[in-house]
Amino acid sequence: MIEAQGLTVSLAGRTVLQSIDLSISAGRLTAIAGPNGSGKSTLLKTLAGELRHTGRLDLMGEPLSRCQPETLAALRGVLPQSSEVAFPFTVADIVGLGLETGGAGYRSDAAARIGAALDRVGLSGFGPRNYLELSGGEQQRTQFARVLCQIPKAVAEDGTPRLLLLDEPVASLDIRHQLEIMSIARNFAEEGGAVVAVMHDLNLTALFADELLLMRDGRLVVSGPTAAVVTDAILEKVYGCRLRVNAVPPAGVPFVLAQCAG
Ligand SMILES: Nc1ncnc2c1ncn2[C@@H]1O[C@H](COP(=O)(O)OP(=O)(O)O)[C@@H](O)[C@H]1O
Ligand SMILES: [Mg+2]
Repeated sequence: MIEAQGLTVSLAGRTVLQSIDLSISAGRLTAIAGPNGSGKSTLLKTLAGELRHTGRLDLMGEPLSRCQPETLAALRGVLPQSSEVAFPFTVADIVGLGLETGGAGYRSDAAARIGAALDRVGLSGFGPRNYLELSGGEQQRTQFARVLCQIPKAVAEDGTPRLLLLDEPVASLDIRHQLEIMSIARNFAEEGGAVVAVMHDLNLTALFADELLLMRDGRLVVSGPTAAVVTDAILEKVYGCRLRVNAVPPAGVPFVLAQCAG
């Protein structure tokens, strides 16, 4: 669904992403992980078409830079790492922005679609609430509902897969809501869409991601099936600290325990 070769991005005169080659497939949940400042958010914004780049970056076989904004809005939804809201919008207002960015204009089923998106993230009945008075986790789930309102289905009626680009979608959530949000993302991929999610929690990543891209200093250090990438040697190289990977028998799902240095 996305192919990149030699993808390079400079911001304010600094090269922030350097010569990245990657391939993102429909039907897969692809995680991006790596230390703070390694370029994860910049990569996600670039895949969203928000930043100028050099090198090849194709979406569905077409150069991304040639896609019209309306086409992009119908094809992919983006959850940024942080979303500033300065006015006391209601939760329903925020979620409804997804309908507008989806290029749909006024819709007679708007209220029903907003309600359905809120139900999916466990915020039924939150529509009239003031967004600014929600907890951080509730705000994050509201933003996720906005993306689901824009892109409710993993595959369009003509069979074209849809794409979700999620920057730390579970960063301020408790464990139950982390699992719920990751399950929605997983189902989206299983239904034939593509999901790219920036993740910090390596255990959740091991549980939910099919593919893992590990970044360091603006470069893609390693990529592949998650179980092949989550190894002591690879994680220690990328994060620069001691880590031990174990597996929970019998399913063999890897988990990661940090160890004190020294
Ligand atoms: N607009 C910008 N101008 C200059 N440098 C930036 C800009 N945005 C991000 N950077 C720098 O690019 C690097 C990668 O940032 P980012 O992609 O946000 O990292 P991550 O999401 O992995 O923590 C950091 O060193 C950051 O300071
Ligand atoms: Mg980031």
